[in-house]
Amino acid sequence: MSESVNSRIQGFYKLPVRGRLDALRTHAGLDAESGAWFAEGGGLDLSVADKMSENVIAVHGLPLAVALNFRVNGRDLVIPMSVEEPSVVAAASNAARMVRDSGGFVGDADAPVMTAQVQFDDVEEPDHAASRILAEKDRILRAGDASIPRMIERGCGCRDLEVRVLDRHAGVMVVDLHVDVGDAMGANTVDTVAEAVAPVIHAMIGGTIGLRILTNLPMRRRVRVRCDVSAEAVGGAAMADGIARASRFAELDVQRAVTHNKGFMNGLDAAAVALGQDWRSIEAGAHAYVALEGRYRPISTWARTATGLTGRAELPLALGTVGGSTTAHAGVRAAFKLLGVTHAQELAVVLAAAGLASNLAALRALSGEGIQKGHMKLHARKAEAEQAAVNGHAVHGHTLPEVRP
Ligand code: MEV
Repeated sequence: MSESVNSRIQGFYKLPVRGRLDALRTHAGLDAESGAWFAEGGGLDLSVADKMSENVIAVHGLPLAVALNFRVNGRDLVIPMSVEEPSVVAAASNAARMVRDSGGFVGDADAPVMTAQVQFDDVEEPDHAASRILAEKDRILRAGDASIPRMIERGCGCRDLEVRVLDRHAGVMVVDLHVDVGDAMGANTVDTVAEAVAPVIHAMIGGTIGLRILTNLPMRRRVRVRCDVSAEAVGGAAMADGIARASRFAELDVQRAVTHNKGFMNGLDAAAVALGQDWRSIEAGAHAYVALEGRYRPISTWARTATGLTGRAELPLALGTVGGSTTAHAGVRAAFKLLGVTHAQELAVVLAAAGLASNLAALRALSGEGIQKGHMKLHARKAEAEQAAVNGHAVHGHTLPEVRP
């Protein structure tokens, strides 16, 4: 990402699509290759699609948009988002503009350590078996490393393991292996490690080898993000009070927490889809994480301060800037170039910030005039496009969204 990126591009939403690309060239360092790909309308070659999945018959389309106004850890960012729901991108951009006035989002992510699980059943004396595994920890980790030589060359590899007895009577136990996967999402790497160490451990403890697979709750790969926003920026002290009350509602009520979290995931998932991430794993991990204490909680909370509000969020986030569709999909490559983020840890902070912005926008709308007014204006644009599609022609020209991003 170029230091000269300016994500606050005024009037962007008023421009036609090509004008938006010109603005990104000027303000966000959009390079010629990605610009050309966007200018052609994006998409995915059918031949590439045919290799990404099975039984392929066509390519499915979604809008590719950009959320503006983001500043994360002191850097301006234009965040690609792909989502079918109107108003998600406008809302995130709107909230990012409010937060920007107070310095933007700040966050940090744990080292990219993914966890693989190896299950054993029918182990005799599982507590002794656990001690044996711990005594041979280094040998097991080295066996895991031997299965991923290319990752070792990049400084990645097995870092630690834990053993848990799940059912003493039936001899069920699990070995959790923690593996630094660098800038990859890491599923393939840790699955390889799990399959490599299973027979090594089996030779030590006997029993029956069970599953060997990552967990989508990567507890050692968490991201934290926070931001301040002034009462003035959100529309005044009464609105700031309303947002804090809305946050409290989500803390007190599970049904509200689920919807609150859906609003958070609106921005995070939209960016994840545009950037070719495994959004099912993100969703699975995020919701499990906030239920770990036995009660489903909001991923993010907003507290009143003397001058406005502070928002915070924490969740596990397994993302990759290399491998998977980040290599195979031309649009994902272009989206990454536009975003300008090369490390998985930084990507995690950015996506968490997108989530926090979406959540702020939703709570602000709900605490004020309600969600429907702004929502319905943008839904009306979508309905217009739908009607045009039914009538057999595309909508050309670009109706202005009345909700200013
Ligand atoms: C709609 O996609 C998301 C919201 O329901 C989130 C929320 O209620 O906080 C508006």
